[in-house]
Amino acid sequence: MVKSKTCVFISGQGSNLKNLIYRSRDKSFPIKISLVISNNKNANGITYAKKFKIPYLFINTKLKNYENKIIQCLKKNKISLICLAGYMKILSDRIVKIYNKKIINIHPSLLPKFKGLNTFEKVLKNKERKTGCTVHYVNSKLDDGNIIIKKAFYISSKDNISTLKQKTQKLEYKAYPEAIIKIFRRY
Ligand code: GRF
Repeated sequence: MVKSKTCVFISGQGSNLKNLIYRSRDKSFPIKISLVISNNKNANGITYAKKFKIPYLFINTKLKNYENKIIQCLKKNKISLICLAGYMKILSDRIVKIYNKKIINIHPSLLPKFKGLNTFEKVLKNKERKTGCTVHYVNSKLDDGNIIIKKAFYISSKDNISTLKQKTQKLEYKAYPEAIIKIFRRY
């Protein structure tokens, strides 16, 4: 099986990256993580790239030509799928166009509910019964684009921001690999 070369974009912890690296070591998993891009030099996720000897690139988004650098690097590494995993920047229309339907993102809510930041605060404030995570295609709008997979759980009266985060992330580690398998079934 020829695995699709995939780039994971991160900004922080990188626990989804780590999970995808582990999953992609499975022979039958359709992708190989071939590149990691971070806009944060100190992102913990970079340690996983180092540990698994995956090429990584720090991108300084304050530089004018940073997008060219990203595009160049994606092309050089023959990337055919981009997975956003806690990447805290919005990708430009240009990249979204070049990689049309080849960019996916994971968001810690049941989209279209609670787009953007501070999701768990919003979930609690809104007294939701359920929450979860969503993997979706990326288009030029924030946390928009066709949904590939959602996973949900019931919120208990004891839940707070930190327990919601923990429970949501646990589901994310199932949802992201499942979403990837699902999109490759369609090709
Ligand atoms: C995840 O909860 C994801 O839903 C959101 O950012 C978080 C990233 O976590 N987009 P990590 O860096 O993968 O640990």
